[in-house]
Amino acid sequence: MLLDALTRDMRKTIIAGNWKMNKTPAEATALLEELKPLVADAKSEVVACVPFVDLGIAIEAARDTNIKIGAQNCHWEESGAYTGEISAAMLKDIGVDYVVIGHSERRQYFGETDETVNKRVKAALAAGLKVIVCVGELLWERECNITNEVIARQIKLDLWDVTPEEMKNIVIAYEPVWAIGTGKTATAEQAEEVCDFIRMCLKTLYGLEVASAVTIQYGGSMNDQNAAELLAKTNVDGGLIGGASLVAEKFAAIVKAADASTTY
Ligand code: 13P
Repeated sequence: MLLDALTRDMRKTIIAGNWKMNKTPAEATALLEELKPLVADAKSEVVACVPFVDLGIAIEAARDTNIKIGAQNCHWEESGAYTGEISAAMLKDIGVDYVVIGHSERRQYFGETDETVNKRVKAALAAGLKVIVCVGELLWERECNITNEVIARQIKLDLWDVTPEEMKNIVIAYEPVWAIGTGKTATAEQAEEVCDFIRMCLKTLYGLEVASAVTIQYGGSMNDQNAAELLAKTNVDGGLIGGASLVAEKFAAIVKAADASTTY
């Protein structure tokens, strides 16, 4: 283990749902209404990252609750001729707290590169958003034994020019691509090994103090059954949840497991 186990309590535990392209505004309201009482006493930070068209209604539904609302992407320019895009300033203006950047589905299907991820991260930070930066290896990269190289490269490029001060608003989500939507979860040991390695990369870039304070989530088929084991690990400080975040009781059960994993 790279860092003292005591450092676990220096970090905020964050459970974020990534709803992906699911839930109409009416369905989003219903899900949030169901979720609200179930997570009202949570010690962990609870976030719902919803489709763009759901943001307004989700912010209303979550007003005066402990649920924070996030978007799933943003563009790097503040405004301009970028048909179909949404700027970080627009998100901030309507009351969004978080934005997911660099999800593997965006890298895989929409040509997202580490360079564009970095530009989006910088823009989101400049607009005052908290950013969940996603990294993770493909199955064949793991099989070729280059997981660490892939992760180190993503961390370095995606966070290029991000200052130590800005790191306070960065969350890293480790999402092995082979575990997303496949029902194939990384073992708790695999998740811990890579999350620990990510922290080591952050320590190299920013020093021990900054690295110890960054929340590192695991994502990839995390659910109400496996969350406790994953979240018990020292460097797994939360989860980015896809499928299970669409069912209020399952998501709430993950939040409970997260609460149980922290001592603050
Ligand atoms: P699943 O939990 O559906 O595997 O999705 C994980 C994910 O991609 C979260 O961003």
